[in-house]
Amino acid sequence: MDHPRYPRPVGLGPLAYGGDYNPEQWPEEVWAEDVRLMREAGVTMVSVGIFSWALLEPERGVHEFGWLDRLLDLLHANGIRADLGTPTVVPPAWFYRDHPEALPVTREGHRHAFGSRGAICHSSPAYQAAASAITEQLGRRYGSHPAVALWHVHNEYGVPVSDCYCEESAAHFRRWLGERYGTLKELNCAWGTAFWGQTYTRWDDIQPPRLTPSAGNPAQQLDFARFTNDAILANFKRERDLLHRLAPGIPVTTNFMTALSQCQSIDYWAWGREVDLVSNDHYLVAEDHRTQINLAMAADLTRSVAGGRPWLLLEHSTGAVNWQPRNLAKRPGELARNSLAHVARGSEGAMFFQWRASRYGAEKFHSAMLPHAGTDSRIWREVVALGRDLGALAEIRDSVVRPDAAMLWDWESWWAQRLDWRPSIDLDARERADAWYAATWDAHLTVDFAHPEAELSRYPLVVAPALYLMTEAASRNLRQYVAAGGTLVVSCFSGIVDEHDTVHPGPHPGALRELLGLVVEEFAPLRAGERVALEAADGGPALHADVWTEFLLPEGAETLYRYADGPAAGRPAVTRHAVGGGQVYYVSARLDGEGLSRILQLAAAAADLTLPRLPHDVEVVERVGEHGRYLFAINHGEQDADVPLAAPGTELLTCAEVFDTLTVPAGATRVVRH
Ligand code: GAL
Repeated sequence: MDHPRYPRPVGLGPLAYGGDYNPEQWPEEVWAEDVRLMREAGVTMVSVGIFSWALLEPERGVHEFGWLDRLLDLLHANGIRADLGTPTVVPPAWFYRDHPEALPVTREGHRHAFGSRGAICHSSPAYQAAASAITEQLGRRYGSHPAVALWHVHNEYGVPVSDCYCEESAAHFRRWLGERYGTLKELNCAWGTAFWGQTYTRWDDIQPPRLTPSAGNPAQQLDFARFTNDAILANFKRERDLLHRLAPGIPVTTNFMTALSQCQSIDYWAWGREVDLVSNDHYLVAEDHRTQINLAMAADLTRSVAGGRPWLLLEHSTGAVNWQPRNLAKRPGELARNSLAHVARGSEGAMFFQWRASRYGAEKFHSAMLPHAGTDSRIWREVVALGRDLGALAEIRDSVVRPDAAMLWDWESWWAQRLDWRPSIDLDARERADAWYAATWDAHLTVDFAHPEAELSRYPLVVAPALYLMTEAASRNLRQYVAAGGTLVVSCFSGIVDEHDTVHPGPHPGALRELLGLVVEEFAPLRAGERVALEAADGGPALHADVWTEFLLPEGAETLYRYADGPAAGRPAVTRHAVGGGQVYYVSARLDGEGLSRILQLAAAAADLTLPRLPHDVEVVERVGEHGRYLFAINHGEQDADVPLAAPGTELLTCAEVFDTLTVPAGATRVVRH
């Protein structure tokens, strides 16, 4: 794997701290106050120019860089670095005047309009040329500006629109298919076009998966998802390559959204290899009661996409966002807990959207580092305190997170499982990943995510929460992992289809049958709201499930739990199969959280993985670096909590010496260097 070439923003000393800075929304007199307050808060870097194309190039070929020159000089004079945006997520109105065809078309055939952001057909040659031109201007002008520490290409590729169904995209899709399959015979075979009479005899007859009267061809839809990811990635690479040429040595990033929970179009395993520094944006789902779990998952997934190396949290919020149905304010101390939890899991800093709250536009009710309430506000005081805390943690840079286990995740499988006409609409791949992740969080395990074809031998325990689509290579990889002594947990509806959404030959789950030592004779989804019990073969407490069960026929696997009721009553529900030096657990039902925790305990014991005994709401993660080991303990609970320490050390935020126990006050974070 070709991993990040420049692991950190150029010349940035301590951990990065700051946010999106949009001074173009304010008169220039305000800028001086901005930088004064940035210094007061300990800001080290701001992201600028992300949405400024129309200001930098008010008409085609007419450039106005004066304001950005003055801004970068001002930042530099104040010791603040810039994460400089290429503004290619918002082509100006003049661009669409000449090129309305570059506005994306929906699956239903409607063209989006100008007046928001991100209205881009990624196959549009006009867009590509204009984006390259403005990026080239910026690279030439600022490639050696001393303030520029990092390039921020575009913004959150893939949202709000990723796929486009226009004629240009259709032609591009056909070229992509030509490269993938070579001949129509191959394509017809891969897409299973014998079904419903869809056989193609001319390339020109192939369309993107536009609106159809009934369920569309799943392999066609899956390939279109792959094509869309590739088309967008090509546009990133074009800008990246220009910047590498014009500004050698300055790392290039683009802000990911790795844990976006609505299905999205970016395969971050592919993207992680293309950026110099992986960066991520994360926003809490404010109404969740345990937002810390999704945050941890996002951070772990981002670190994994970065190949375990340090990464950077480029956006999160100081308080409420303004785009959810009910935008809850963060509670006192939550801002620091959120930021430090990302840092604990490998981020080299904490950045926000945005520096100063906007007075106008769509995001005026979004929180900021400098809120509408000004500096006499809780948020500002917490922002200043966090700047101090991050300053005190400067030495942790370049240290890496020590994982206990791995969880398998594949965007392609997620894309495939969400297509039409599955056995139950209630079984959702992302929900299962979230649920299994929550079980690992509750068990105080730190997990890496891994692609199912990735090398796994360093993990004693691997969980596969949802791998509906499984390639032959992944199947082989998992067999090797278990045979060599690994412990694998596989959750229901995995290993069913290949990369074309074609069912693997023989009984389900074709890609895993031999490894699991069983056959899934039939899926047995449940009615909405129906619950079933699973009784333990050893007489232990029962487990409970809803949504999904299966009729299993063991072929060598031992039964640990049986269905006590429901359609599969009396049949095996959870099994274990010993293979070579390892073992694999199979969970054929959608277990509730308690059930998942129980299975995880069994598997951890089998893997000789000792689950730490820690207070329930305390998150403990370790980073290991040249100067020592750093134990982060974040208390999300309302009571002070004691964390046992393996060795004495120094607590970096309070400068206290600590011995065998670390007391973490309610809501606080502590970081101990051993
Ligand atoms: C991000 C986006 C920012 C801002 C923020 C608000 O997804 O990159 O520009 O819109 O959301 O939460």
